[in-house]
Amino acid sequence: MQSHLSESLFGETFRPRVHFTPHRNWMNDPNGLLYYKGKYHLFFQHNPQGNLWGNMSWGHAVSSDLLHWEHLPVAIGCDETYGIFSGSAVIDLKNSSGFGSLENPPMVAIYTAHNHDGSHQSQHIAYSLDEGVTWTKYADNPVLDLGMKDFRDPKVTYEEATNTWLMTVAKPQDFKISFFRSSDLKSWEHLSDFGPLGATGGCWECPDLFPLEIDGVTKWVLLVSLNPGGYSGGSGTQYFIGHWDGKTFTPDSTNTRWIDHGRDNYAGVTFNNHPEGKRIFLGWMSNWIYADKYPTQLWRSSMTLPREITLRKLDGEISLISTPLDPGSEVVKTQLHITQGADSSLTFKDEKNFLTIAFDSATSEVVITRSWFIEDSPQRSLPITSESATLSIYFDNGSCELFSPEIGLTMTSLSLVTLDGARVTHQS
Ligand code: FRU
Repeated sequence: MQSHLSESLFGETFRPRVHFTPHRNWMNDPNGLLYYKGKYHLFFQHNPQGNLWGNMSWGHAVSSDLLHWEHLPVAIGCDETYGIFSGSAVIDLKNSSGFGSLENPPMVAIYTAHNHDGSHQSQHIAYSLDEGVTWTKYADNPVLDLGMKDFRDPKVTYEEATNTWLMTVAKPQDFKISFFRSSDLKSWEHLSDFGPLGATGGCWECPDLFPLEIDGVTKWVLLVSLNPGGYSGGSGTQYFIGHWDGKTFTPDSTNTRWIDHGRDNYAGVTFNNHPEGKRIFLGWMSNWIYADKYPTQLWRSSMTLPREITLRKLDGEISLISTPLDPGSEVVKTQLHITQGADSSLTFKDEKNFLTIAFDSATSEVVITRSWFIEDSPQRSLPITSESATLSIYFDNGSCELFSPEIGLTMTSLSLVTLDGARVTHQS
């Protein structure tokens, strides 16, 4: 539930109960995910003036639990020259940038300035001294410019050991992720490039690099979104697990692996500065194939449920596992038990629409089919190899998310089913 919204808006068809949606108008990627002073900050790609992509600016919302959000004014607005594309935010505790003070450290946003004519992209910064509410664009922007047409989506993190900032940024058309280092967020030194590797359809966007422990060993995870060419068609996010030596990322395997086997989880990245050191991921719950046609008017698009990302060994291979934060009783939660050799399914249905999750024993795949507003093929997982598993399923207005951490399965799908009057039916 979103506290500022009136009851009548909750009645609005497809407005989710717990998934984040913009109060009004268009949204795509999550940006600047950051925890500071008891609040999670969610900035997002936003058109403040309409329900289609355009006038790209950073919208802003805050939450203390990642489920209930308070909407704040547009944080960083586009101007006559640039759209404000995706990026990240940090708290500059030691005031390395000089934008604030040790008593009031600046929040610094690092984002892509996109020339409106599409000719050029470079990395800019802006800072806020009031916890992200108002922002000043740095006078000497850009801070990183390679003269490229496509060069975007910087994710910046702080590295304690070297007291420096690390930037992970995409060269979309080259299928490369570039790494840069800085001591003041203003001048950046190139470290290395990674790629092409794995899936190279469309272009590479919205990377994120972070460490995770498994069995006392630190591994590094690199997320790379690509569009089109995703696992389920259109937009999708792949991941690599490997080693980071402070300069170069070396993957353990060259296999293509996907964070989600559904069609609606794109451009997801993780929060900086989580208070308990957890890795919390949030994705844009849509797909560039049809994002602008989903049948809402006042607002468009929502985020996925927040998910904790961990590593687990499955079939002898270290895999990325997504576990959702419990959304509480405002959504419908159910389970489907699957066993090799036995078909089983579950359908969520209201008067007009349906979404079915089925285990197809002939192929061992989990398959999602839905009534949809354009032609739509079934969403199929990879074949399940374990003898049996339990799928935990979450339905909100207009979406379905399915998780089985024990087998490493995550599927995220928009739907046209609304909670009012909807029923779940099982078949086995
Ligand atoms: C990904 C993306 C980013 C870009 C933003 C523009 O969905 O294309 O690469 O920064 O959207 O809105």
